[in-house]
Amino acid sequence: MALLEVRDLNVYYGVIQALKGISFEVDSGDIIALIGANGAGKTTTLHTISGLIPAKSGSITFDGKDITHMPGYKLVSMGMAHVPEGRRVFANLTVLQNLRLGAYTRPDKKEMEDTLEMIYERFPRLKERRNQTAGTLSGGEQQMLAMGRALMSHPKLILMDEPSMGLSPIYVNEIFDIIEKIHQDGTTVLLVEQNAKKALAIANKAYVLETGRITVKGQAKDLLNDERIKKAYLSE
Ligand SMILES: Nc1ncnc2c1ncn2[C@@H]1O[C@H](COP(=O)(O)OP(=O)(O)OP(=O)(O)O)[C@@H](O)[C@H]1O
Ligand SMILES: [Mg+2]
Repeated sequence: MALLEVRDLNVYYGVIQALKGISFEVDSGDIIALIGANGAGKTTTLHTISGLIPAKSGSITFDGKDITHMPGYKLVSMGMAHVPEGRRVFANLTVLQNLRLGAYTRPDKKEMEDTLEMIYERFPRLKERRNQTAGTLSGGEQQMLAMGRALMSHPKLILMDEPSMGLSPIYVNEIFDIIEKIHQDGTTVLLVEQNAKKALAIANKAYVLETGRITVKGQAKDLLNDERIKKAYLSE
């Protein structure tokens, strides 16, 4: 059974339908890329999965349980973490305080300290800057912090919304390297990206979302070579 299964999902903002019956799955161990233009419904998809927006109809199953109407805080303790669009770190708190907040579902102090060490190993820059307020970090550092904070809950599945957005090319490469490492450490990844080329390069499977519908799905490497995809999403 898939780790995450989305079936016939319909989501509205008032009378406007943002998701029009989308279905897809994420298997344990996957990196799935969800690509699409501005306004296609990528963020809406992640928000609905993580319980921030209600589904009008359809179902979402995670780790064998129906989570369609489950609130977000419960999903974190079930093993789902969300790295939101625009990072959303707590600007006035330090790096360390932000990371600690990510572990709120895991009260064991010793475990938290061990996890923190693991995250500092993965993100040496966060260790260097642990006492700096998050609002004064660079964009790339804030992205690392948002990822580190999500990893503090030991997720099985991590949802990432446009992690490379607004970053300089060097940071973009670094963030994609980190995503691959997080995946190698055993976390399943659902990655929303406008940088389709890079997302497809690290993903195993991918879905294309167009105005609320999934129009293409396949192996990421096939999409990278697909003429239609190249023309619509891969030209620089
Ligand atoms: N809170 C809201 N109220 C009304 N409409 C919304 C709201 N949030 C999103 N929408 C609309 O839903 C559609 C999908 O938006 P969504 O943010 O999911 O797109 P996206 O694929 O993440 O786009 P982007 O690449 O710009 O982040 C858009 O038409 C958007 O205007
Ligand atoms: Mg978005």
